[in-house]
Amino acid sequence: MPDAAYGVRMRVLVSGGAGFIGSHTVIQLIAAGHDVLIVDNFANAKPTVIGRLESIIGGHLQVHAFDLRDADQTERLFAHERIDAVIHFAGHKAVGQSIKQPLAYYENNLGSTFVLVAAMARHGVSKLVFSSSATVYGANATVPMKEDFPTSATNPYGWTKVMIEQILCDVAVAQPSWRIALMRYFNPVGAHASGTIGEDPSGVPNNLLPYICQVAVGRLEKLRIFGDDYDTPDGTPLRDYIHVEDLAAGHVAALARLTSTDRAVSTWNLGTGTGTSVFNMLHAFERAVGRELPYEVVGRRTGDIAASYADPGRANAELGWTATRTIDDMCVDAWRWQSQNPNGYPDA
Ligand SMILES: NC(=O)c1ccc[n+]([C@@H]2O[C@H](COP(=O)([O-])OP(=O)(O)OC[C@H]3O[C@@H](n4cnc5c(N)ncnc54)[C@H](O)[C@@H]3O)[C@@H](O)[C@H]2O)c1
Repeated sequence: MPDAAYGVRMRVLVSGGAGFIGSHTVIQLIAAGHDVLIVDNFANAKPTVIGRLESIIGGHLQVHAFDLRDADQTERLFAHERIDAVIHFAGHKAVGQSIKQPLAYYENNLGSTFVLVAAMARHGVSKLVFSSSATVYGANATVPMKEDFPTSATNPYGWTKVMIEQILCDVAVAQPSWRIALMRYFNPVGAHASGTIGEDPSGVPNNLLPYICQVAVGRLEKLRIFGDDYDTPDGTPLRDYIHVEDLAAGHVAALARLTSTDRAVSTWNLGTGTGTSVFNMLHAFERAVGRELPYEVVGRRTGDIAASYADPGRANAELGWTATRTIDDMCVDAWRWQSQNPNGYPDA
């Protein structure tokens, strides 16, 4: 059914829809008039997120709790449900853990993609939006990063993204009627404006903003800044932080674009185009909280690069999408979520 603002309405399977980015995207898909089904094995999400999502959307969500690597369950889902398109968020994402457990990362990220794409092919579902990452630009890319730069990786997590991008390009060569979007996210942060859903990392967070959040609520003693001797204005690394709501909107726009593009594979950076330093992010968060937060500068972390930010021009032009939220918006929303949920989602 056509919709004036968002093109064709679709029934969208969201893999990893209980996770951080998936949950925010589910809300925007429904707001755009799409129907949503979630598949998630809750390996990195709490089931209580679903009730929160249902409160926000004011309706029931169809959730299938299983591992996408389970070929029988995945096949049954496609056999019983009409599915017009898939957004594939499911995967493991912790860089450090991927170095310690490479096989688990390759197995989960590649294995879930194989099973999913094979089921799509069997059931004639040919629109796929895939969660890739700026990590595919590797360690030596210049900034701003453009989609036509060569890809590489510095850790197993990054390699899973490079490999899945390649696999999906090969699928599109074999089946040119497919429409595939490779979405390269920069640094997603922030939370839904309600403060009821947000990022809930298990263990000590790997990323800056969740770490600052946990310092602010007293779960961690102080922020550790990994190096202030980079070749950047204040010596700390620059990253392209993007509000998860802007990121979610980028997926809705990409899905719409897949219904009109002639290209089998489209690659889009989702970023703001601005690099923000660790100190600038810390100070923005301090403004949101209304007090100074403790930190210490420690040695550089292996694998960190000085600067990573997008050239988002292609997504801006082709998707009619632009990230609009500021660093202060990101910190205010992240703090609302964290202060209302100091320990993340409840177990039940
Ligand atoms: N958050 C980031 O900084 C970031 C940056 C770039 C790319 N990405 C990618 O975006 C995607 C979503 O990231 P996120 O931050 O929302 O992560 P997340 O861990 O919050 O969400 C991923 C979801 O997938 C589920 N999942 C994992 N393996 C599964 C499997 N085999 N079967 C079914 N469900 C499975 C998890 O339970 C989780 O709910 C991931 O693919 C990630 O690699 C994230």
